[in-house]
Formats: sequence, C-alpha cells, structure tokens
Amino acid sequence: MSSVLITAGPTHEPIDAVRYLGNRSSGRMGIAMADAAAAAGHTTTLLLGPSSLLPMSPAVRVHRFTTTSDLQSLLRVHVPAADILIMAAAVADYRPKPLAALSGGKFRRTDEKVTLELEPTQDLLAEVGRNRKPGQILIGFALEPRDEMIESARRKLQKKNIDICIANPLETMDAPEIEAVLVHKDGHLESGPGRMKKEDFATWAIARLLPR
Ligand code: CTP
Repeated sequence: MSSVLITAGPTHEPIDAVRYLGNRSSGRMGIAMADAAAAAGHTTTLLLGPSSLLPMSPAVRVHRFTTTSDLQSLLRVHVPAADILIMAAAVADYRPKPLAALSGGKFRRTDEKVTLELEPTQDLLAEVGRNRKPGQILIGFALEPRDEMIESARRKLQKKNIDICIANPLETMDAPEIEAVLVHKDGHLESGPGRMKKEDFATWAIARLLPR
C-alpha cells in the first residue's frame, strides 16, 4: 500500500481583511481522488483549500489551506513522506500586492478608480518537481481549452518535471463530470473511460495509477 498525498480546491488570496481573489474550483475532483485512494487501502492525506465539500471517508487525513503560501508550507511538510502526489488544487498564479493605506484592514470606497496590482505566486508543483525523490510519482492537472489541452499538458510535464499530467477541458471546473486524458512523460496518451462523474473517474484513476 502506498502513501498518497492529494491537493484539492481553490486558493483564496486576500485583497484586504474581507475580500479575496479566488477561482471557481469546487475541490470535488481531488476530494473524490482522496476517497478512492482511502477506499483502496492507501494511507491518504488531503490538503484541502476553501471548499464547501469534505471527503466521505474518515480514513482520509485532512489539512486545510487558504492561500498559495499556506499550501506551499503544507507541501514542504507532507511531500517527503509521500509515494505519490496528485496535485488537483487550482492554485493561484497571481496574488494581490498588499494595498497601501488600509483603514482598519479594510479597503474603503472612494470616487477614485482603483488599480489592483498582482504579483506572481510560486509554481508549487514545479518546486516539488525540482526536489523530487527517486521513485516518487508526481501528477499534475492541466485545465485548458479542449483543442490546446494535450499540447499544454506536454509543456507542463516538462516545465514541472512531473510524470503524468491529467488534461481536462475548461468546462470541468466546478462541474460534476470530467472527461480526461492522461499525458505520460514518455509521450504516450491514455484516454480515460469517457465522460463520467468525478467520483467514478477517481476510482478508475486510482486503480490505474496505484495498482495493488
Ligand atoms: N500549480 C502549482 N502552483 C501554481 C499553479 C499551478 O502547483 N502556482 C499546479 C496545479 O495544481 C496543476 C498544475 O500546476 O496541477 C497546472 O496548473 P495550471 O494552472 O494549469 O498551470 P500553470 O503552471 O499555472 O500554467 P499556465 O498558467 O500557463 O496554464
């Protein structure tokens, strides 16, 4: 049995004490992967962002994050013990630079135009890829327009130094179903069993990725 680490859900990057920049990820795909891994008997840890969903299985160990930086800290703790990392979280690529002149932590309304300045976040999966241990399996997702998703997954495999990139079309975000293609490091493509509920895809993918 393997030690499986999964990330799921969106990140929220604060603008001020009450506002954030986020995305529409529900966390459903990663949570389903965690339930499927636990059901298959693997030791499963889920790093879960601000999602309203939770895994069903009490065997899944859950740690919560809010920001990209929180998730980076959790990955640094949990990756060394993992045999496989499945990076399903929709991590922010940019975060707001702290605003000047916040009164009481909250940005106040005026009649002036406001410009929100963004700074790049770290690419967390690429950081894991740079420090990977021999034998560790690293899996990422590429959420892309359908006609670009395979090419883009191939680029991400190289850029992040990972083993498999699961390409799926943009409409997968916040949807109950997924239709995915596994793009392997050696170049071969493996189509999933077609359009299906994320829970069913998770069971298929865990059996494929972690044969008993
Ligand atoms: N990812 C990450 N850290 C980030 C952004 C993304 O670890 N700051 C991970 C995601 O969890 C996913 C994979 O990288 O598994 C691909 O994410 P995606 O947003 O599609 O790719 P980017 O590297 O952000 O590339 P681009 O914006 O050019 O599509």
